[in-house]
Amino acid sequence: MYLTREEEKILDGEYGYGYKKAMEILVAIGKIYEADRLIDISSAHISGVSYKNIGDEGVEFLKEMAKNSRVRVPTTINPGGFDLNNWKRMNIDRRFIEKQMDVINTFQAMGIKPSLSCTPYYNDNLPNRGEHVAWAESSAVTLVNSLIGAYTNRESGISALAAALLGKTPRYGLHTYEGRMPKYTIKLKTRLNKMSEYGVLGYLISDIIGNNIPYIKGIKNSDIDKMKYLAASLATYAGTPMFHIEGLTPEYMEYEPPKEKISIDEEDISKGFKRLRDVVNSVDMVWIGCPHASISEIKTISNLVKGKSLKKKLVVTTARSTYKLAVQQGFIDEIENAGGEVYADTCIIVSPIGEKIRSIMTNSAKAFYYLRGVNNIPVYVADLEECIETALTGE
Ligand code: F3S
Repeated sequence: MYLTREEEKILDGEYGYGYKKAMEILVAIGKIYEADRLIDISSAHISGVSYKNIGDEGVEFLKEMAKNSRVRVPTTINPGGFDLNNWKRMNIDRRFIEKQMDVINTFQAMGIKPSLSCTPYYNDNLPNRGEHVAWAESSAVTLVNSLIGAYTNRESGISALAAALLGKTPRYGLHTYEGRMPKYTIKLKTRLNKMSEYGVLGYLISDIIGNNIPYIKGIKNSDIDKMKYLAASLATYAGTPMFHIEGLTPEYMEYEPPKEKISIDEEDISKGFKRLRDVVNSVDMVWIGCPHASISEIKTISNLVKGKSLKKKLVVTTARSTYKLAVQQGFIDEIENAGGEVYADTCIIVSPIGEKIRSIMTNSAKAFYYLRGVNNIPVYVADLEECIETALTGE
């Protein structure tokens, strides 16, 4: 991979340990993927923020990188292990709080915004079409490639941090025209209305074509929330970094629909739901907010529970920036008056509170994957309205 003289100086350690290490990481990745050179990025987003996930080794690595190093582009981070303003109600162990705050403070010392959300594109970090960025958090990667038309590979937390410190990333894969080429045409032969149906669609597509990029025809009346669930499922079940949707993806006209065609109809969607529904005799918790809930999802929940009393534990997780908007609109009060809990900065998967739950109902196919795999508990996926109905009736 070609390096400029300046980049070679960084690699030789002339600017300090953190930048040298960052350059070593990018050069190693560039060599593996046969990148031709480094390109400038306009933003970064880092995953692997919860102390639950990174442990003491992760904290140590971050501290080493942070010595005299600051990020060169606007950078945001994924959720941590608890709500920074509401940790008491979450009953988090004090040692965990100290460790997690150490992680967040280390990121902040590098000039990173403590956004603590997996949906930075809602408020905190929205790239423009055609910009090259270096993002981790697979659901956000797939969404910004596909819906915004930004260019990013699926970075790890470490490579996203390295890119943020240098303001550069190796040019390969999704940063190139060829790397964004669709391989299969998916013909959707039914109209999807509910957000959870998009999660199921992503699950089904992943099952059929693996991590190849799909060119999807037949999606009408979509919006960013529905695309969020499609992106999260595709990224989770097969590692798909982007999709093209006819009439929606900014660059869809630059590619021919692939000859290899697959159809998905209404029956397939209902079969998909069945595969995402464990036998759950009694729901312990209803969880909305994987990926983090948008202001419009919180508004819907608030309208559904307004003036009522919940019979099951309802937890909503969201970004701090969305939470603030929801407070201004009175949505948080309505949900909490009904007995619900809304947390910012965290989620059930990356927080220790997830370890105490025995069964969950959720509207997220991605949450199904992680709750089953990491927490090993039964999960039932349904639409947001059905989830809230269960929280209200207890049935
Ligand atoms: Fe976000 Fe946690 Fe789901 S980080 S995508 S809410 S697993």
